[in-house]
Amino acid sequence: MAILVGVIGGSGLYHLDNLTFLKNVNPETPWGFPSSPIAICALPTGTKVAFLARHGVGHTLSPSVVPSRANIAALKSLGVRAILAFSAVGSLREEFAPGDFVLPTQIIDRTKGVRPASFFEDTSVVAHAAFGDPFALRLVRWLEERVRKVLEEEETAEHNGRGIRPKLHSEKCIVCMEGPQFSTRAESQMYRTWGGDVINMSVLPEAKLAREAELGYALIATVTDYDSWRPHESSVTAAEVFKTLHDNARLSRHVAATILEELHAAAADGELLTEEVGSMRFSIMPRS
Ligand code: ADE
Repeated sequence: MAILVGVIGGSGLYHLDNLTFLKNVNPETPWGFPSSPIAICALPTGTKVAFLARHGVGHTLSPSVVPSRANIAALKSLGVRAILAFSAVGSLREEFAPGDFVLPTQIIDRTKGVRPASFFEDTSVVAHAAFGDPFALRLVRWLEERVRKVLEEEETAEHNGRGIRPKLHSEKCIVCMEGPQFSTRAESQMYRTWGGDVINMSVLPEAKLAREAELGYALIATVTDYDSWRPHESSVTAAEVFKTLHDNARLSRHVAATILEELHAAAADGELLTEEVGSMRFSIMPRS
C-alpha cells in the first residue's frame, strides 16, 4: 500500500502515537540524507504513514542547517503526496496563547539566504514556482474542521498545566526568521506591524520545496511563548519554550492519531491536492 502522507515533527515531536513501527528508511537523495531516518509506521487499519523528525532524532540540527531539500525529496521518493508539518511557534498577538494551535495561510520570509531554498539551484533550469498561497489551501481548510473538533473534544486538554482549553486559530500569517537567536523586542514589534501573527525558524524553505515538489503542505503550529514584543514582560527564552513543548507535543500526537487515517483517504482520493499536482508545469522558463 502506498505511503501518501508524511508527517514532519518539529521541536518536542519526535514520534507519533497509536502507530505500529514497521521500519526505518534512510533514502539518499541528490541533496544528501534526510534529517533523520524516516519511520514507516502503520495506523491500526494497516494504512502506512512516514514520520520524519525535522531536527534529527536527538534534536541535533539547528533550523539553519536542516537539510530541507533532502527531507522533501526523501518523502516524495516514498510516494508521499501530502505533508503535515508540525512546529513550535512564538505568538505575536495577545489572543494566541501558549498551548494554542495555529493554521497559517501566509508566510513572511525573514531567513537570510543561507538555506538552500530551491531544487533548481545550480541546475541549467530556471524555475519560478507560484507561492502566493504558500500552503495547500484545500488541505488547510480540511484540517481546520478536524483539528478544531479534536481540540474541542479532547478530554485532558484542560489539564495541560494551564487549566485552559487550547484554541485553534486559522488564516494566520507566520514569520520565518533565521535564528538561532530569538528576535529583539524591536524586531518582534516590527513583525506585528507587518501583519505577522506567529513566528518560527522552520517553515522555510520547507514550504517552498514542497511546492516545487508539487506536494500538498500544511503546517500545524503550536504556540510555546509570546516572543519579545510585550513591553512589560520578559522576552522569550528557550526555557520558556521548553515549558509548553511537552504538552503541545502530546496534543499534536493526539491530533495526528485522530486525523491521519482520514487524511490518507483524502490524499488517495486526489480531490484535496488538485492545486499542487501539475503546479510546476508552467514554472520552468522556456529556453530561447
Ligand atoms: N519557536 C518557538 N518560539 C519561537 C519564537 N519566539 N521565535 C522563533 N521561533 C520560535
